[in-house]
Amino acid sequence: MISRGQAERTWRVKTKSPEQTMHLGRICGELLTQGSVIALMGDLGTGKTVFVKGVAKGVGVADEGEVTSPSFVLVNEYQGRFPVYHVDLYRLHNAEEVEDLGWEELICTPGVTLIEWAEKVLQLLPEERTEVHLEWVNAVERKLMFVGKGKVAHGLVQTLGEKWMKED
Ligand SMILES: Nc1ncnc2c1ncn2[C@@H]1O[C@H](COP(=O)(O)OP(=O)(O)OP(=O)(O)O)[C@@H](O)[C@H]1O
Ligand SMILES: [Mg+2]
Repeated sequence: MISRGQAERTWRVKTKSPEQTMHLGRICGELLTQGSVIALMGDLGTGKTVFVKGVAKGVGVADEGEVTSPSFVLVNEYQGRFPVYHVDLYRLHNAEEVEDLGWEELICTPGVTLIEWAEKVLQLLPEERTEVHLEWVNAVERKLMFVGKGKVAHGLVQTLGEKWMKED
């Protein structure tokens, strides 16, 4: 069900395999427009990186093997039909540290930015964003909740939900 709130739009879905999560990411990547920020939130091993791999594919990044969690450098850049910035904040100690990454530039840049462990910098995220909350169900299933915040993100969450239900 897609809820139609004033300020945000929410869509919940359960995936039954990593492949399905990747496919969902791919559809999302195909729909993305430049300037989008995707904030991924959820525990270790819930599938954030799997989802990002799918998104990269959907944006047209040729080599999916390139997509790995950038734990040490914090930001990876891939080239698709526009740049994809993949940020992983797992090792971040405090929000101030992201300033060293050139945070403003990162989230305002043309291209799309995907942020793993975005809950660590909640107050620094742009208002216009799509949140993906991931939850572990069992060895092969994950619950994903998409929250579109802002007009563009509303549209993305709406269309993603519709496309997914059509394919299912
Ligand atoms: N339905 C599913 N969707 C996504 N991943 C799944 C699913 N079922 C099982 N998995 C497995 O869960 C793991 C998810 O790993 P992934 O690296 O994407 O997690 P993560 O959220 O990025 O973790 P981290 O916080 O360590 O970066 C993979 O080993 C994947 O095969
Ligand atoms: Mg990861």
